[in-house]
Amino acid sequence: MQIVILKDAAAVAEYGAQIFIDQINRKQDSVLGLATGSTPVALYQELIKANQANKVSFKQVTSFNLDEYLGLDGDHPQSYRYFMNEQLFNHVDIDKSNTFVPPGDAQNPITACKMYENKISQSGGVDVQLLGIGRNGHIGFNEPSSSLASRTRVKTLTKETVEDNARFFAEGEFQPHLSITMGIGTILEAKKVVLLATGENKADAVRDMCEGAVSAVCPASALQFHQDAVIVIDEAAASKLV
Ligand code: F6R
Repeated sequence: MQIVILKDAAAVAEYGAQIFIDQINRKQDSVLGLATGSTPVALYQELIKANQANKVSFKQVTSFNLDEYLGLDGDHPQSYRYFMNEQLFNHVDIDKSNTFVPPGDAQNPITACKMYENKISQSGGVDVQLLGIGRNGHIGFNEPSSSLASRTRVKTLTKETVEDNARFFAEGEFQPHLSITMGIGTILEAKKVVLLATGENKADAVRDMCEGAVSAVCPASALQFHQDAVIVIDEAAASKLV
């Protein structure tokens, strides 16, 4: 595990984006694993800037997102498909038919999970996987107690995660409590993993991930087993490291 501590969230985004830019410039048809949430937004803005300045092209890139709410279709403003279109795909030269997000409207979610795993394998596997971390140490929607060998599956969100994400839903609006998420085993198969965390509210989770025991209590601690995991954090998120 390589831990990179930078001054602030802007520096984290720039550093993280450069890893993706270098990856794509080395291998034009890279397979990227992508994440949603607040943390990667600034990184996506850096990628958009780089694409518009012709410093990187996404024309041959394939992407797989980590997770999606079960019960929302891709046109729903709170779906992760919609988020990815808005935050990245609509603004770069990627072919959207090569962008994959688990289907939140799947008729048969269990079959859809298997198909998602197959699709990742058929693409040759993820070259670089972007991750954020939940306050409870989740990665993707792999909540505490998730098996460290888990594959893409339907997962119930914890009360804490539902509360954290409630800010994105209007009062009274349906908020899903189920998701489809890549498993921890799936994530660990990416050739490289880049996890970003910023702000003091992530400091406990960052400490548990980097310095705690490898345990399903903190799903992100499984990254200690990864050969090429880069943890890019700001000083606030690093504040509880020994
Ligand atoms: C998003 C995801 C989640 C988030 C995590 C942190 O696709 O898989 O694990 O990365 O909840 O979210 P933010 O960045 O909003 O703090």
